[in-house]
Amino acid sequence: MRRPMVAGNWKMHGTRASVVELINGLNQQALPAGVDVAVFPSCLHLGQVVDGLAGRAVAVGAQDCATEAQQGALTGEVAASQLHDACCSLVLVGHSERRLLLGESDEVVTRKFAAAQSSGLLPVLCVGETLAQREAGQTLEVVAAQLSAVTDALGVEVFSAAVIAYEPVWAIGTGLTASPAQAQEVHAAIRAQLAAKSPELAGKVRILYGGSVKAASAAELFGMPDIDGGLVGGASLNADEFGAICRAAGS
Ligand code: 13P
Repeated sequence: MRRPMVAGNWKMHGTRASVVELINGLNQQALPAGVDVAVFPSCLHLGQVVDGLAGRAVAVGAQDCATEAQQGALTGEVAASQLHDACCSLVLVGHSERRLLLGESDEVVTRKFAAAQSSGLLPVLCVGETLAQREAGQTLEVVAAQLSAVTDALGVEVFSAAVIAYEPVWAIGTGLTASPAQAQEVHAAIRAQLAAKSPELAGKVRILYGGSVKAASAAELFGMPDIDGGLVGGASLNADEFGAICRAAGS
């Protein structure tokens, strides 16, 4: 049995005041004991969120890390070891907004993945196809290549301490959620790709779905056999909505 995870990616949102409100809202949520819950605030608000959620079973993660694990002369970047020191336990790597808008290559994503693990963080590897790639019938091929970039360089075993998030780019922030069947098809393919190398590991790795997840769509998505929870963007900025999504993963 895989333990579900629901993670909120706050992206480049939040002010000190709105983060206080969101923390207060999250502190009022009943969160299911059987679900790992995490939030990914902007780097600027990590300390505030770690302190504000102290004592709650909510892990805090960062949205990105440097390719170098250790601190050093790299202006503007944040090392995975610094995130660990700041009480983060997870980090997103390879989010499509970074791949597509900031030109992050598979090689850079892989280096960030390795830096995260070497610093004791759980990387959440984001993969997913664009609308053009889906329409060209390339979905499984694109996702397989993004996953292979990591397994070829680092080995399949690294996924014993990592999470995968399938986020179709066309579903992110568009209100167009992938149907449970569309998402399940890709999740099953990801798991099969890992199973070809290690069936035991593949059975244990958590694969989250991301892309316009709302409380109303969560239960049906999370009910699919290979969907182990969600990576939630917009809806995670509303504590009640996010709490409801967490509860959907626990039911
Ligand atoms: P939305 O839930 O806003 O579509 O964002 C999904 C996402 O990119 C989470 O990382």
